[in-house]
Amino acid sequence: MICFTFARMYTLVRKVFFLMDAERAHYLSMNALRFFCGIPPIRSAISAVFSPNEQSLKREQFGLTFKNPIGLGAGFDKNATYLRELETLGFGFVEIGTVTPLPQEGNEKPRLFRLPEDKALINRMGFNNDGVKVVRKRLEEWKTNTTPHLPAGRQARPRAAGLGAPPEQVYQPLVGGEFGKQAGIQGKMIIGGNIGKNKVTPNEDAWKDYEICFNELFDVVDYFVVNVSSPNTPGLRALQDKDSLLKILGTLQQNNKQRPVQKPILLKIAPDLTDGQLQDIASLAEEIQLDGIVSSNTTISRENLSELSKAQVETIGMGGLSGKPLKSASDEILKKIVLLTKGKVPVIASGGIFTASDAQDKFDHGAALVQVWTGFIYEGPGIVTKICKGLK
Ligand SMILES: Cc1cc2nc3c(=O)[nH]c(=O)nc-3n(C[C@H](O)[C@H](O)[C@H](O)COP(=O)(O)O)c2cc1C
Repeated sequence: MICFTFARMYTLVRKVFFLMDAERAHYLSMNALRFFCGIPPIRSAISAVFSPNEQSLKREQFGLTFKNPIGLGAGFDKNATYLRELETLGFGFVEIGTVTPLPQEGNEKPRLFRLPEDKALINRMGFNNDGVKVVRKRLEEWKTNTTPHLPAGRQARPRAAGLGAPPEQVYQPLVGGEFGKQAGIQGKMIIGGNIGKNKVTPNEDAWKDYEICFNELFDVVDYFVVNVSSPNTPGLRALQDKDSLLKILGTLQQNNKQRPVQKPILLKIAPDLTDGQLQDIASLAEEIQLDGIVSSNTTISRENLSELSKAQVETIGMGGLSGKPLKSASDEILKKIVLLTKGKVPVIASGGIFTASDAQDKFDHGAALVQVWTGFIYEGPGIVTKICKGLK
């Protein structure tokens, strides 16, 4: 009932925000949420309404415990500035980034556009972010505020079986957060670190950028996602060819294995890959013992759009399309990658999830976890609870 009231309120609020520039509205709405979450009784009330707490929602993946399988995709909280607010809204995990070694401005504004007729977005942000050092600092603060000391015997947890790595390898521990407890939230929100390269770094040196980000974020994220699939950094998607991937992922895996504890490394793929490229990625995943795949990023295709959106797209220009029109293409790529990897590599599914039935489709196609992004903009803060309630 309360959730229903909030949903109706959000419809009104959304109308106002949709009158503004999309990127401005994004920061304004998150800053407003931050203001309310800064008042503990209000934060607890928001959390009580929006945080699903059923034990049955828990998922074990990559040796990590997710309090629920609904995450927020990369690019929403690029700089790790809204983690408390996103935890209050019930997300099981949030992927920060894409983060690059050096801070960068991203592309010229405007660079984020709505296609409300189709419940879609087009963005050409271009990895605007504060740079890995600043983001690391924020994550350190988040970790300090949320992670209580562990008894010595619980300093590490065995890696999940069947993910390709020797059983003696272990991941760093994950524990319930102090903030979460204060706000009445059960379990800790998992943080993924989505990493990329700076625009000025040539592709042949890209692996160095990924390794810089990996080293810098190693202690402060729970898993990594290598992003080579954004359409908004010139030439980036060329890194999806087998040799480039082998260099980047092989370097990271080697680095990972030399550490006393390991972090899961996932690869985020584009929905526009050919069958040949997908086959290459599947064999590479086996070869280098990739921990998982995020499928998929935004698309460069302009299919599944209404006549009205098609006219808008003409004036918007380049960028990645997300939301409802992406759903079928991202479902297809999900099915294919699950088949090619024989279901042995866990997949986080992303693309066009608005409802429980959308999420259920992804799980039925073999996804281990799901992420929302555009759906969050259109459906509002109740999206996690709504999806969790409707899952089979
Ligand atoms: C404005 C915007 C910025 C994004 N930035 C990133 C990013 O920095 N890195 C990344 O891997 N994906 C990024 N994405 C892609 C999303 O994480 C997600 O994979 C994609 O939007 C498909 O999901 P959706 O249809 O639910 O939005 C971005 C998406 C949007 C809409």
